[in-house]
Parts: sequence; structure tokens; C-alpha cells
Amino acid sequence: MPTALIIGASRGLGLGLVRELAGRGWDVTGTVRAAADRAAVEAAGGKTAVADITDAAAVAALPKTPLDLLFVNAGVSGPAHQDAGRATADEVSALFLTNALAPIAAARTLLDRVVDGGVLAFMTSRMGSVTDNSSGDMELYRASKAALNSLTRSLMAKLGRPLTVLSLHPGWVRTDMGGAGAALDVETSARGLVDTILAHRGTPGSAFFDYSGAELPW
Ligand SMILES: NC(=O)c1ccc[n+]([C@@H]2O[C@H](COP(=O)([O-])OP(=O)(O)OC[C@H]3O[C@@H](n4cnc5c(N)ncnc54)[C@H](OP(=O)(O)O)[C@@H]3O)[C@@H](O)[C@H]2O)c1
Repeated sequence: MPTALIIGASRGLGLGLVRELAGRGWDVTGTVRAAADRAAVEAAGGKTAVADITDAAAVAALPKTPLDLLFVNAGVSGPAHQDAGRATADEVSALFLTNALAPIAAARTLLDRVVDGGVLAFMTSRMGSVTDNSSGDMELYRASKAALNSLTRSLMAKLGRPLTVLSLHPGWVRTDMGGAGAALDVETSARGLVDTILAHRGTPGSAFFDYSGAELPW
């Protein structure tokens, strides 16, 4: 039975990924920050572990089992104003730590547990594409995901192992972050994300795809 660890699985897309993978027969563990959220992950068919992605010790203490898939999903949208000109040091620090630095630090810590031929996936966003940025909206969130993409490419360049490293855009999805007016439901996005992962599993290299399997520009 293939194994997966989803970091950030209490709700939204992370929880949807747990449900999708468990439904396909995977042995999947989802992390939560609040122990009270374990029940939701278990109801979706997953095992649970508790960790905040910014807590290096908690990440290192996650179950030390071999992984076919490590999916770093946790993310935040940042301050509502989204204005680089008025962002405080605390706002920038929290956003970039959660969305860019901590995902890469967690991946580095857990990389040894991913088997050769396995997949390391990061939940980024199309908004993290520098090439695709013609609107400039959500500028702080965009910058944090662009930073994640850059750090992911650096990780891949120095990896020296036959892993598939995927930067994935889930589409615009109806979650707490995406809002009620978003285009996609969680199930459709999670199904497409898992299909995309399975299509590229076993092919070492890095790429940026959306949930439909379409390649996106960096
Ligand atoms: N929804 C969209 O349209 C969309 C589009 C593009 C990209 N994304 C990306 O997809 C990912 C999931 O988003 P979502 O829409 O499912 O958002 P969501 O419903 O707000 O869920 C966010 C998840 O991240 C977790 N999280 C946040 N900060 C964390 C931390 N410090 N440590 C551990 N977990 C943490 C949350 O846990 P708690 O419950 O403990 O807060 C929750 O499980 C994010 O990376 C987001 O940027 C979403």
C-alpha cells in the first residue's frame, strides 16, 4: 500500500487530499495543528499527527515511516490589505515563514523518508508565477508563493536523488481561503491533483502543474 504524508490537513484542500488518497487505497497521514481537528482527518480515512509547519521540532518528530508522497499543503493568504507598501515586519514574517521558508525547511527535514521514485509536492499557486502576473492583485500572497517556487527550484537543483518534485496549483477552490464564490469544489481539485501526481510519479525532475495536469510557466 503506498504511503503519503499531507502537511496541513485539518480542512480545505489538505483534508480533500487525505480523502482522495485514502479512497484510492493509500495509507495516508494528515497533520493538524489543533488536536481537535484529528477527528476530521480520521473521518476522511487518514491517520493523524500534530505539527505546526513553523515548528521545526514538531516536524522532525512526525512519523518516521517511508513515504511514496510527501505533500506540503499548509498555507495562509496573509494580511487582508495585501499591500507591500504598508505591510508590517510581523505580517511579512508570518506570511513568508508559513508559505515559503517553513515548507522548504519541512521538506528538507523529511526528505530522507521519501523513497527513491517518490514524489515531493508543494501546494503553490498560479499566483506564484512571475510570468503569469498581469493583474498584480494579492501582491503579498503572490510574492510568498513566488518565493516558495524559487526555493523549490533551488531544492531540486541540489537534490541529487531520483525524486519527482511538483509545484501544484489547485485551481480556484471553495475553501476558507478560496471563498464561497470560487470555481471548483475540493473534491474536483483533489481528484485532479492526485491524478497529476500519479501521472508524474517515477519521472524524476521538477515542474509546475495545475490540478488538470496543464503545465504552468514559472
Ligand atoms: N483555495 C484556493 O483557491 C487556493 C488556490 C491556490 C492555492 N491554494 C493553496 O492551497 C493550500 C491549501 O489552501 P486551502 O484553500 O485549503 O486553505 P484553508 O482552507 O485556509 O486551509 C489551510 C490549511 O493550512 C493549514 N495551515 C495554515 N498555517 C499552518 C501552519 N503554520 N502549520 C500547519 N498548518 C497550517 C491550516 O490548518 P489550521 O486549520 O490549523 O489553520 C489548514 O489545514 C494553501 O497552500 C493555499 O495557498 C489555495
